[in-house]
Order: sequence, then structure tokens, then C-alpha cells
Amino acid sequence: MAGRTAVVTGAAGGLGHAFCVGLAEAGATTVVGVDLADQSRVQAAVQTTGAHYVAVRADVTSEADCAALAAQVGQVDIVVNNAGIFPSIPFLETSLEEWRRIHRLNVEGTFLITRALLPGMIEAGYGRVVMVASAVVWLGPPGMVAYTASKGALVAMVRSLATEVGHTGVTVNAMTPGLTRTETALSSAVNEDFPRVVGNQAVPRAEEPEDLVSTLLFLCDEGSGFVTGQAINVDGGFAKH
Ligand SMILES: NC(=O)c1ccc[n+]([C@@H]2O[C@H](COP(=O)([O-])OP(=O)(O)OC[C@H]3O[C@@H](n4cnc5c(N)ncnc54)[C@H](O)[C@@H]3O)[C@@H](O)[C@H]2O)c1
Repeated sequence: MAGRTAVVTGAAGGLGHAFCVGLAEAGATTVVGVDLADQSRVQAAVQTTGAHYVAVRADVTSEADCAALAAQVGQVDIVVNNAGIFPSIPFLETSLEEWRRIHRLNVEGTFLITRALLPGMIEAGYGRVVMVASAVVWLGPPGMVAYTASKGALVAMVRSLATEVGHTGVTVNAMTPGLTRTETALSSAVNEDFPRVVGNQAVPRAEEPEDLVSTLLFLCDEGSGFVTGQAINVDGGFAKH
């Protein structure tokens, strides 16, 4: 990772924090955090590793913000599309507005960030793009149809985009975390799912953000250039994908 610049969206959140620190500890020279929320906590944590942290306040669903981000950071090596929401709503109670809100952030935001930063990676002949999807794609839990559809779109997106850019030195992969103990998960409706989910996992404890870091680093590794178009499941062995 030495000399590498990584962009992590949703950097201020639970998984984003762990990803930023993990990339910095693995030697990334610069971590660019993208979020609408305050990033001072993750910034301080990254800086203790000696890595440079650039906090960018940007809305990943804004085409203008994504273009401004690309202009500000220039060529980057790693893009982690992690910003996302995971509301629990029964299908028949899902308004069109809510369906669009979920897809706008989870799918369109990933599209806009990736499209903005990909040209620099293609020009450099090197890049690692990782989408943070979800194990719900394999499990299909009730009450999360809009969310599952949005994360399924990311898994499909990596397959097609990986093929399109495979000759350029850029890999595109997804990881699918299981239910993970972040503040958002613990304070939302999915908090009630922990006992059931843990009971179904092969590893009988709740997933922590740090459980996802080694897979992210593997996908971002220079030596992983032959791994592309994949979705790697990291959920303690609930979904045997
Ligand atoms: N926590 C889980 O159980 C779990 C499981 C599987 C997948 N995921 C996925 O992992 C990702 C992170 O989850 P988390 O639990 O860390 O969530 P989180 O709420 O802690 O973090 C999400 C971050 O995204 C930021 N964000 C939201 N909208 C944004 C926008 N328009 N532009 C820029 N930033 C924006 C938020 O401010 C927040 O800091 C999400 O995509 C989620 O769907 C989470």
C-alpha cells in the first residue's frame, strides 16, 4: 500500500472508520475520507498511524460534488464505495420516495463516485475499486427488499464493470458484510436482528467492523490484480456463498 492514495466514502461511519484506519495501518500514504458528517474522529485515528488524512465534505449523490472531489484529489489508487443506508421497511409499506432514497445513495452514489475517479485510475493503468454491498444479497431477509435490491445492483455492477475495465489494470470487486455492530446498526431497527443472525452464523458472535478489514486489504492489494468481478462474503458463515 506504500505510496497509495485511497478514497473511502462514508468515512465517518462505523465501517468507514475501520476501513480508513485499516488502509492507513497497511501503509497507504493518503486516505481521503468523503462524508457529509464530521470526520474529526476518523481523521485523528488515521493520523496516529502517520498517514495523511484529507477530509472532504461531499454528497456522493451529487454529480457536482463528485466532480469537485475528483478535481481536488487527482489520481487515486483505491476507491471504497462504503456510504450507504440500510432501513428496514416492509415491502408493501415502501413508498416510491423511500425506494428512490435508498437507491439514490446506495446505487447512484456508488455510480457517481466510481465514474468520477475511474478515469485517473485508467490513465495510471492501476486501480482497486471495492463496493460495500451486503450479505442480504445472498440471504434475502424479509423487510429489506429495497435495500437488498440496491445492494444486489452493486454486485451486478462489479461483474459488468470489471469486464469493461479489466484490460486497464483496474479491478472491481464487492464485499458483502453480515450484520455488523456499528452505531447505526445498534440504534436502528436491525439491532433486533442480532440474536437471530448470530444464531445462524457458523462463528457465534456479533460481527465487528474490524472483521471486514482484512478482506478489504486483500481486495486492495497490489498482488490481487487477478481477482476481479467478485463478491466476497464476510458474515461469520451465515450465508454459504
Ligand atoms: N452495519 C451493518 O450491519 C452493515 C451490514 C452490511 C452492509 N453494510 C453497509 O456498509 C456501509 C456502512 O455501514 P455502517 O453501518 O458503517 O453505516 P454508518 O451509518 O455508520 O456509516 C455510513 C456513513 O455514510 C455517510 N453518508 C450518508 N449519506 C451520505 C452521502 N450522501 N454522501 C456522503 N456520505 C454519506 C454517513 O454520514 C455515515 O457516516 C453501508 O453501505 C451499509 O449498507 C452495513
